[in-house]
Amino acid sequence: MRPLGAGRASQVFDLGDGRVLRRGGAPKREAHVMARARAVGFPVPEVLEVLDDGLVLELVEGPTMLEDLSRRPWRIATHARLLAALHDELHEIPFEDATLLHLDLHPDNVLLAASGPVVIDWTNARAGEPMLDVALSWLLARTSGGLGGRLFSHPFRACFDGEELEQGIAAACAFRLADPNVSPDEQTAVRALLARRSRAKTWLR
Ligand SMILES: Nc1ncnc2c1ncn2[C@@H]1O[C@H](COP(=O)(O)OP(=O)(O)OP(=O)(O)O)[C@@H](O)[C@H]1O
Ligand SMILES: [Mg+2]
Repeated sequence: MRPLGAGRASQVFDLGDGRVLRRGGAPKREAHVMARARAVGFPVPEVLEVLDDGLVLELVEGPTMLEDLSRRPWRIATHARLLAALHDELHEIPFEDATLLHLDLHPDNVLLAASGPVVIDWTNARAGEPMLDVALSWLLARTSGGLGGRLFSHPFRACFDGEELEQGIAAACAFRLADPNVSPDEQTAVRALLARRSRAKTWLR
């Protein structure tokens, strides 16, 4: 088994036969959510087996959007629009009396296959308000993606109604600060963003 990647919450192995093993997360719940998305044509890897401690998934060939951005940074606006389009498509899917949200939809969780983008890493997915998902992707870019992330955040944000996005930011910050996988540096960056925004509001009053 060749390790493909180890994230904060899982390990992924290439099983060598067109399948990957993703250990970690909440396999049953993730399989359920992924099946729901796949049923309506949203691009997710096929779930081949649900194990107690992980999922066996179809191997998707292709770089992540983040890898592609590091090789071809001039594609930043195109990729930001693609990520925004994936949000729009995902948020057409009704789920548990609300809308299906991914809640970790960033360029490292999009694989660029020859057939098109494929969204992975459904650990955080749940039902909710679409603007929380969009604001969270923006926040991740602003506070966890370095200079490249901050540059990416502008064309991404421009794809949405600014006022609506604003309404999701407080909840996105709270979500991020409650995540035990968020590093102290990332938490500091989120708090600094909140502080800057509250200062800006005071000046505008
Ligand atoms: N179905 C797949 N096909 C090919 N590669 C995959 C697949 N699923 C995951 N990977 C590879 O494994 C890496 C980690 O996968 P994933 O994002 O699901 O795990 P994670 O542990 O939740 O990551 P993180 O916590 O860093 O977000 C991906 O960046 C990708 O390179
Ligand atoms: Mg990931």
